[in-house]
Amino acid sequence: MSDPKLSPETIAISAGRPAVKKDGSLNPDISLSSTYHAGGTVGYGRSGNETWSALESAISELEGGQTLAFASGNAAISAVFALLPIGAPVVASDQGYSGTMAMLTSFQESGRLEVRFVDIANTDAVIAAMSGAAFLWLESPTNPGLEVADMPTLIVAARNLSVGVGVDNTFATPLIQNPLQMGADIVMHSVTKYFAGHSDVLMGSLSTKIPELHSRLQEIRKIHGGVPGPYEAWLALRGLRTFPLRFECAQRNALELAKRLSKHPAISRVRYPGLPEDSQHARAKSFMRGFGAVVSFEVKDGPEKADRICESSELITHATSLGGIESLWERRRRWPAESKLTPENLIRLSVGCENVEDLWRDIEQAFTNS
Ligand SMILES: Cc1ncc(COP(=O)(O)O)c(C=O)c1O
Repeated sequence: MSDPKLSPETIAISAGRPAVKKDGSLNPDISLSSTYHAGGTVGYGRSGNETWSALESAISELEGGQTLAFASGNAAISAVFALLPIGAPVVASDQGYSGTMAMLTSFQESGRLEVRFVDIANTDAVIAAMSGAAFLWLESPTNPGLEVADMPTLIVAARNLSVGVGVDNTFATPLIQNPLQMGADIVMHSVTKYFAGHSDVLMGSLSTKIPELHSRLQEIRKIHGGVPGPYEAWLALRGLRTFPLRFECAQRNALELAKRLSKHPAISRVRYPGLPEDSQHARAKSFMRGFGAVVSFEVKDGPEKADRICESSELITHATSLGGIESLWERRRRWPAESKLTPENLIRLSVGCENVEDLWRDIEQAFTNS
């Protein structure tokens, strides 16, 4: 472990390095082996891999627990729900990430879990839904509505009700909120996004401070097999080295673009918790140290115009996903699994690290030429 006083910017650069030795390499090797000589504790490539371990230790230092890497964010989420007994009641956002909602809906339909979808920003409603529940799944800010859950209050309430808490920290990242320090049991990341940061790898992670939970999740990963490739783990760790730099830059750009978008005559609503007028601003400011780099906005002329805007960009890429160094946008309701509570005319913009004036010129021309 590095010095606990190191800042996240330093941890991202220094964690997960091999031990210092003369002529030893600075970076971990890509450990390409599906099996190991007998007599050790790992044994087989589904149980462990040195390149995963390097990435896991870096994420552990950022999130403050023990970490397991998974093949994707969704593989990580699915491992969390695999902890729960058949029919266990789970509370989750009614407008969270569509992949999580699709997974929970399928568990609901098969009887695997009982899912209580709620407005995660409505603290009273979430607390009421937690009565008799086994688990609270918190995604905050939500994707793509950018709703903010009152995490400190909800985590304490969950503790008092003996409800387990998992937090999808993909949008906020440990740079701006630390759910394990607030008392959550598990923190999940789509490593695909800000950690890896270059839209070239799919990975997920789970971190926990509870050794027994770590062991159970490790067992689930081994049995269910949602393991990452060593090369992907290496790429993700390489991306993680610059994650704080990229995130700070993308956040700055996002705030500037959100301000300009909120004055745009063709937009009816901008969602970004960093805007003082945003309905989520006061709550976000009370416990977050930043507001992230995703901005969502609603186009006055409706979904067809929103589609044309996305298709008309020349710099911003028209694609799904987020958290890469390059800006992406899309109309979220083009996906059938998206929550019906997400407006049809909503565009989600994942702001990258390009020059903000170049981004703004592209947005303006896309509105004009669509
Ligand atoms: C908030 C959030 N959680 C989880 C995921 C799933 O991650 P992955 O695509 O790596 O499986 C995504 C993907 O978009 C996401 O945005």
